[in-house]
Amino acid sequence: KGDPRLQAISDAIRVVPHFPKQGIMFQDITTLLLDHKAFKDTVDIFVDRYRDMGVSVVAGVEARGFMFGPSIALAIGAKFVPLRKPKKLPGEVIAEAYELEYGTDCLEMHVEAVHPGERAIVIDDLVATGGTLSAAIRLLERVGAEVVECACVIGLREVQVIPSPFQCFPSSC
Ligand code: PRP
Repeated sequence: KGDPRLQAISDAIRVVPHFPKQGIMFQDITTLLLDHKAFKDTVDIFVDRYRDMGVSVVAGVEARGFMFGPSIALAIGAKFVPLRKPKKLPGEVIAEAYELEYGTDCLEMHVEAVHPGERAIVIDDLVATGGTLSAAIRLLERVGAEVVECACVIGLREVQVIPSPFQCFPSSC
């Protein structure tokens, strides 16, 4: 809040009405990725927050968490751990299911990627119900990591459950 970069970041995100279906206001971050300054400012805001927090793991949620997480990990000197949709990872995995509007989905993580006691953050583009982030937190906690914070670029107004602790930029939830 109060950061002059936030308005430009917000303006760079295209909102597409009725995509992928009627009634959905789709938040399209691909237009943010096209704007070098806004994209860099977005990453820098996360980096400024997390660089001195002793974080060794940046976990990114498939697919759009992959667009921000690796840049943040490189800048703060942490590893990047992809949290993937089912049957994409070749090693030994653990899985956590979460609720969708209709049905359930699942995230998987390589068990050997994160060690007990490591400090982790979770990065995604957007939080809506918080179900995806909650599954991500459960995966990391199952291997003994401490989830310091979850952070997203966009927080929707209709957020129902916000995993705690939680940060989102540039919108305030
Ligand atoms: C979107 C978004 C988040 C999630 C947020 O991903 O990128 O990961 O939904 O929703 P929630 O807070 O209600 O859980 P989506 O499931 O569309 O997957 P995709 O990025 O692979 O398209």
